[in-house]
Amino acid sequence: AGLLERYSEEARREAPAYAASAARGEALFHQRGKDDWRCAGCHTDKPVVAGRHLVTGKPIAPLAPAANPERFNDAARAEKWFRRNCKDVFERPCSAAEKGDLLAYLLEQ
Ligand code: HEM
Repeated sequence: AGLLERYSEEARREAPAYAASAARGEALFHQRGKDDWRCAGCHTDKPVVAGRHLVTGKPIAPLAPAANPERFNDAARAEKWFRRNCKDVFERPCSAAEKGDLLAYLLEQ
């Protein structure tokens, strides 16, 4: 929740009316990018269950904090993976607004 507030504050510097939206986050989580990859491709359509890496097949612990309390409790780790995964899927970093939306969606699961 602290991280969500941080992304929201950052997003509001560019768009003062910004409010994180779980619905937008869900849409983005399913949006196809490069090579048809999407977040849900590795983290599943139900992020409360364990995922599987599209390429390596390695299991990935659930991404939703309700199922995995370790998630998003370390801002630097979350940032590192947002950076890497957004670049892999969308070929660009996710904005603060997008990260807020994604996190709002994951927190709702
Ligand atoms: C971890 C988000 C797509 C594989 C993470 C974390 C976040 C995240 C925030 C770390 C959370 C934490 O531990 O606090 C996303 C988003 C995606 C996306 C927003 C879409 C843009 C993918 C894809 C793959 C993938 C496509 C596989 C090709 C992983 C792996 C980890 C991870 C291996 C680290 C292992 C782990 O923490 O269990 N992801 N992800 N992600 N993600 Fe993704």
